[in-house]
Order: sequence, then C-alpha cells, then structure tokens
Amino acid sequence: MSRPVRIAVAQYAPTIGYVDANRVAAVQWAERAAAEKVDLLVLPELASSGYVFASESEAAASAEDAEHGELVDALTAVCADGLHCVVGINEADGAVRHNSAVVIGPQGHIATYRKLHLFNDEKSWFEPGGELPVVDLPFGRVGMVICFDLWFPEAARALALAGAEIIAVPTNWVASFRRQVYDAAGYCLGDIVAMATAGQNGVVMACADRVGVEREVRFLGCSIIVGSDGWPVQGPAGHEEEVLLVADVDLDGVALARRRTPRNDLFGDRRPDSYNAVVISASPPAGAVTTPIPS
Ligand code: ACM
Repeated sequence: MSRPVRIAVAQYAPTIGYVDANRVAAVQWAERAAAEKVDLLVLPELASSGYVFASESEAAASAEDAEHGELVDALTAVCADGLHCVVGINEADGAVRHNSAVVIGPQGHIATYRKLHLFNDEKSWFEPGGELPVVDLPFGRVGMVICFDLWFPEAARALALAGAEIIAVPTNWVASFRRQVYDAAGYCLGDIVAMATAGQNGVVMACADRVGVEREVRFLGCSIIVGSDGWPVQGPAGHEEEVLLVADVDLDGVALARRRTPRNDLFGDRRPDSYNAVVISASPPAGAVTTPIPS
C-alpha cells in the first residue's frame, strides 16, 4: 500500500435525550478506535442526542455547539495521538438547529457539514445546510454526507469533483414504509446506494449506522466500509449488533478507480453540457407524476 489509511465505523445505539451517556459512549468507541491505530473514525448520525425527538423542547435540550460543545471537546482529547473523528450531532446554531457532522482532530474542531436533505420529521427540528465542505486531513481529502443525502447523487458527485477521496457518512438508516428492508444477503438499501456511490465516483465510503429502536422507529444496522472500486472492504455489519468495523484501504486506489479503462475517466467522460437542463431544474420536469404516500 502506498497511501494506506485505516478507517473505522462504530455501530451502536445512542439513547434519545441522554446527552451525557451518549458522549460517554462516543468517547468509548473513539478510545477503542485509537487503540487500534485508526486514522479516521466515523460515528452515527445524531450520536450526541438520539434521533426520534418527541417535542421541540426535547430537541432544544439536547443541542450543542459544533465548535466547542462538550462532545467535540471530549472527542478532541481522544484524538491527541492523531485519530480523526466524524460524528453526527444535533447542532445548536443561534435560534436554529442543524443535523450536522463534525470533523474533529488533535487540535479540536476542523469542519462542520450541515445535512442538506432532511428526512421526514427532521424537517420539524432542523434547518437544512447549504454547503458541502471537504477537508484535507493528514492521510487524504474527506467529505461528508448524512443518511438521506445519499439518495441525492449530486451531493457525493460534488464532493468527489471537489477532490474528496473518502466520504464519511454518519447515518440512521430506517425502514420507512419500505416493503423490503434487507436483501437475502443481509444488505439494506443504504449499503447498495453507498456501493453505487463509491463505484460511480471512485471514492471510499465509510457509513456508520446505528442500531436499536426509538419510539417505534427501528434502525437497520448494516454499517459498511466500501472501497473506491465499489465493493465492500468491511461489512455490512449485523442488523442489531454493536460493533467497530475496521478496514485498511489504499487511497492510491482512488485515481485507479476513476480510470476505468485507459480510455475512460469517470470525471473527464462526464457530459455536463447534456445534463444541465435536468440537473439545474429546481422542480420535477413537466408531466412528472407525484406518488402518494401509502397510509
Ligand atoms: C435519515 O435520513 N436519517 C433517514
């Protein structure tokens, strides 16, 4: 390996509203990753607060600052020897909140990504973000998306075009109203979308899901680390187990993955001139049919 990086994803069950206990749990997973000499650890979406809020006051009470909150400070201490973490937090931003992913290193907060595509009831608690930052860490360039963002391929594509070699994905995959949750091999749809994203962009995907049930919402597990060729290098994890998946990947594979053949280049072969009319349109094309949500 010429550009090795050790990546880990922590799959466990944060508890709704228990900010102190959730901080302790996140620190314990980070300590375990640090002991395994991990370079980049990804923790789940809303690991600081839990996911299924019952009220505005509950959401507000578990929000914290992205740069100097207690969780960020606690994880900074664990990063002293070179670990970097991406963790999902309920971010307090003045009068509003964001469903955010924070990058933390030995010196503390490095960057914040605020989820662009809010899912279902998240729209009651959070404001969407507006930017897709990439950060240069000692081992490579990292971007972030959160859970439902994966269903919008433009986000990962924008990160890859901005040079991201790894996309960290704090997630809380849910069954929603889907008729099928897992395939025969135990993969959930999030795994398959993450594999497609890796293959389409020649990017490493590190997806940290949670497990457990909150107020009748079941989370799917299936955390996964996908190589830049689109195939899993670790996982998917079990549907209920708490586990740290660890994988060594070579970031030199990223350039190779983007050159599918000597005559192809995933980015150079793009045809934005032909896509623009569709991609920049704010609304569905005329004649598009909106599907009613089953009750
Ligand atoms: C989700 O976006 N957390 C389903």
